[in-house]
Amino acid sequence: MLDEISKLRDEATAEISRLVSPQDFENFRLKYLSRKGLLAQLFDKLKDVPQEERPMFGKSLNELRSFLQSEFDSAENRNANQEMPSSQKIDLSIPGRRIYLGRKHPVTQTLEEIKRIFIGIGFGVADGPEIEDDYHNFEALNFPPDHPARDMQDTFFVNSPSTNEENGKGRYVLRTHTSNVQIWVMENNKPPIRVVMPGRCYRNEAISARAHCMFHQIEGLYVDKNVSFAELKGTISFFAKELFGTTVKTRFRPSFFPFTEPSAEVDINCFICGGKGCRVCKHSGWLEIMGCGMVDPNVFKSVGYDPNEVSGYAFGMGIERPAMLRYGVDDIRLFFENDLRFLNQF
Ligand code: DAH
Repeated sequence: MLDEISKLRDEATAEISRLVSPQDFENFRLKYLSRKGLLAQLFDKLKDVPQEERPMFGKSLNELRSFLQSEFDSAENRNANQEMPSSQKIDLSIPGRRIYLGRKHPVTQTLEEIKRIFIGIGFGVADGPEIEDDYHNFEALNFPPDHPARDMQDTFFVNSPSTNEENGKGRYVLRTHTSNVQIWVMENNKPPIRVVMPGRCYRNEAISARAHCMFHQIEGLYVDKNVSFAELKGTISFFAKELFGTTVKTRFRPSFFPFTEPSAEVDINCFICGGKGCRVCKHSGWLEIMGCGMVDPNVFKSVGYDPNEVSGYAFGMGIERPAMLRYGVDDIRLFFENDLRFLNQF
């Protein structure tokens, strides 16, 4: 009997080590561990063993049973882990999934940089409506009724239900510049005023690499007693150096805007070619960055300020152009297409 027990133990142990498929395991279980299996058959033989030897054989058989059962269980566990379908296996060598961080749009980054510069020298920030009445967009800014900027070709008009057309207050447009916010700020505040006013503007332009029907501007307004053109020049020169680098030169060219007198356009020397002339500066050596001037007395009158009491300067510039210069982008349309391959680069 003891021989049989140890023989069964050896054979079963050897077989367990060869079990692979679920079918192997089931066959083994049936052969050894089931109710009619070899182990059960040995237990049956106990009744033929002399009474006094029975406890000893019984003990050996019980030990064999729990030994085989635990060997079988651990072999089955080991196998279950190895035999996982490959889709469920954990491959620790696979690179992790990359998480892309969102980032600010290059126009937003440029705008924030410009705001930061002006906030740093004491300006506040204000905003105003994009759908604007004719009064704030044109009339109060001293545009004569027949001014070409009001032309259908430039301005998007909005159908409005209002019948109150006095002073253009019931006629709506998509604002063509951020200068409208100057009017809102002065209507609602007393001097001294120091603000920049960023926002989106719209013009009915053919879309090309250089122009879009939607773009951004930032407006500036400084009103106090005895504000001079020299202060305007100093502020803008400082700003240009902050944004484009300390070596940049500024140039003020006489110009005309209805809401400023005198008016100027500001150029910076082309830092791409160093002034020698290139495609970007159209071989002039200069890049135009903004319009500016001393606030026209008529504008002060329209907001109820006394032009004999106060004076001020204003300026306005596009954001896309400096953003294009800053990042070397040669097509303005890229800013509005929201192509992640483009936006991911900033
Ligand atoms: N509003 C002008 C434009 O859109 C820019 C501008 C010029 C704004 C002179 C100003 C200014 O405040 O003083 O072209």
